[in-house]
Amino acid sequence: MEPVGYGIVGLGQVAMKGHIPELLRIPETHITALCDLSGEALAQAASLVAGAKTYDDFDAMLEDEDVEVVLIATPNWLHAEQAIRAFKAGKHVFLEKPIGVDLDECDAILRAWSDSGRLLQIGHELRHANLMRAMREKIDEGMIGQVQMVVVQEYRFPLLPGWRQTAKTGGVMLEKNSHFFDLFNWLADAPASRVMAAGGNNVNKESPLIDHCFVTVEYENSVRAALVMCLFAEHGSQLTIDVVGDKGRLIALAQDQKLTFYSRQDETPVEWSFEPGADGGFHMGFKTEHESFVRSLREGKPVVSNGPEARETMRVALAAERAVRDGTIVDLLPE
Ligand SMILES: NC(=O)c1ccc[n+]([C@@H]2O[C@H](COP(=O)([O-])OP(=O)(O)OC[C@H]3O[C@@H](n4cnc5c(N)ncnc54)[C@H](O)[C@@H]3O)[C@@H](O)[C@H]2O)c1
Repeated sequence: MEPVGYGIVGLGQVAMKGHIPELLRIPETHITALCDLSGEALAQAASLVAGAKTYDDFDAMLEDEDVEVVLIATPNWLHAEQAIRAFKAGKHVFLEKPIGVDLDECDAILRAWSDSGRLLQIGHELRHANLMRAMREKIDEGMIGQVQMVVVQEYRFPLLPGWRQTAKTGGVMLEKNSHFFDLFNWLADAPASRVMAAGGNNVNKESPLIDHCFVTVEYENSVRAALVMCLFAEHGSQLTIDVVGDKGRLIALAQDQKLTFYSRQDETPVEWSFEPGADGGFHMGFKTEHESFVRSLREGKPVVSNGPEARETMRVALAAERAVRDGTIVDLLPE
């Protein structure tokens, strides 16, 4: 079978460090086209991808018949407009997170997707990361019993300069923490019912955005999940995902690519290690998310991290942003 032809729009850091190196390692994919407004970005990306056609006009790339999937990796406020145009052109869409900057944009994308009959996957790659998939498999096998609590702690450096530090992103909860809310929803496996939060901007004064927070999300099945985020932490780049069930506990340390299981019966912990990604750093699922998308395209497997799931993630993220800003508990039910 012919490899799936990808056309990538937005050749910035996530495309250059995440998608392109990993797509080049997948024989079932072929990067046929590259698009960016910046000639420099186009030239840099073209130097990595032999033979790809280059476009500075998105609509021209959409006319390219060798492009089967459009991978959108432009800034957040362009996602809706570009995804809708890609669906109208008959393309499948792999859309970086977040799925738009508000629910109106999200719903417009979902309508265009549904009208097109094409596939949509959102770049919430933590669901695809080897570390997290292993955790999920062990939970599904019953290793820790029923999930009760999920705690994610992220301590790291400030947001990169430029557009990420502006409100145009939709806010930190959407732009960055949507990864963690997506993980919460996936591990809790039930609709979120309410969100409580405290946080603010205490240190990173160059940006108006939240630089630390404590967010709690409650689910209809009584699972509770908490995010502790600090964007001004020395000795940063630490991400821990700690899941406690009624029979055991699983802790994933992203920085060490290590998963540890603790049970009540046996005092000796069990440990598993995972390989880093193409850039030598965390393997956060950039390769496996595309392998999964290709299986959906070629074998009809369900899309993991689909549009409706991303909408639920967005609802939690927007509620968390509001809970911090207004100091209120945000009830997510009824919609
Ligand atoms: N999944 C992840 O872990 C992850 C990590 C980083 C970023 N992201 C997401 O990926 C997206 C891109 O982030 P980034 O950090 O790569 O940004 P970036 O600023 O480094 O790159 C964006 C690129 O888009 C190009 N661009 C802007 N407008 C364009 C247009 N109209 N047509 C064509 N090209 C255009 C810019 O020239 C730039 O090269 C964002 O939505 C971000 O949230 C996801």
